[in-house]
Amino acid sequence: MTTCPDHRCDGSGFVFDERTRSARDCSCRPRRIAKRKARQLAAVIPSRYRGVSFDRPPVTQIDRHVVDEVRRYVDTLPDQLSRGRGLWFQGDVGTGKTTLAMLVSAAALRGGHSVAIYSLPRLLGLLRESFNEGSEASLSELIDRLTAVELLHVDDVGAEKTSPWVLEQLYSIVNARYEDGRAVMLTTNLEHKPLEEQIGERTVSRLVEMCGDPLPLHGKDRRVEYRVEATEDRPLRYGEQAPWPAGLPN
Ligand SMILES: Nc1ncnc2c1ncn2[C@@H]1O[C@H](COP(=O)(O)OP(=O)(O)OP(=O)(O)O)[C@@H](O)[C@H]1O
Ligand SMILES: [Mg+2]
Repeated sequence: MTTCPDHRCDGSGFVFDERTRSARDCSCRPRRIAKRKARQLAAVIPSRYRGVSFDRPPVTQIDRHVVDEVRRYVDTLPDQLSRGRGLWFQGDVGTGKTTLAMLVSAAALRGGHSVAIYSLPRLLGLLRESFNEGSEASLSELIDRLTAVELLHVDDVGAEKTSPWVLEQLYSIVNARYEDGRAVMLTTNLEHKPLEEQIGERTVSRLVEMCGDPLPLHGKDRRVEYRVEATEDRPLRYGEQAPWPAGLPN
């Protein structure tokens, strides 16, 4: 049996009172339930981001003010999650948004928290799929799991094709997490107004309250930089795209 992270129960999630011969919920029980529900959700750091760390590039090359905010968040992670405080990275393509968000998710997973990691297009696809499976139950189970997890990390908000149905599902997940005080972390290329147009005002308004001001990441696309640097003499770094071969039409 697992041990109690709060050192209160015997690992069962219940505290027994010998005198009254009754049991009550231990403080660790909500986390246990969230973890059980999260088991069927994706919580995998993609291989490209697996080695990310505060003391190595590319994180050491990202805007120091933003990295400092992220470090403060990670240093107080259990408290932030228990208060339902999330993070929001907003900015240009290829500036480190997903890198920093993955750094946070990796720290949360290492700390034993339940995390679900999805790009929004994938998450919405999953909702549609589970709806198409025919049973209302499978959709509501999925929404229930996405609501219970301690940290919901949604990457690439704004890149998805939307429909009123899909937006309503997204709203119900965000709203349920808002009401329960559970953290959301997101990355997006969109500014506030276009984001509202893309995913709806009510959803964005809740996200703003849960995540605070977006952490801005702007500048040139670092992916392009790597591509330009690559030559035949230097092997490509992991994940880089090869330069367009000379002589071929663009
Ligand atoms: N400031 C930076 N300095 C150096 N390399 C960086 C920086 N930001 C990102 N990179 C590198 O650029 C690539 C893209 O980073 P990342 O996926 O975090 O970008 P993103 O902001 O999420 O982009 P997108 O908006 O396209 O999703 C990665 O290989 C990452 O290591
Ligand atoms: Mg990204």
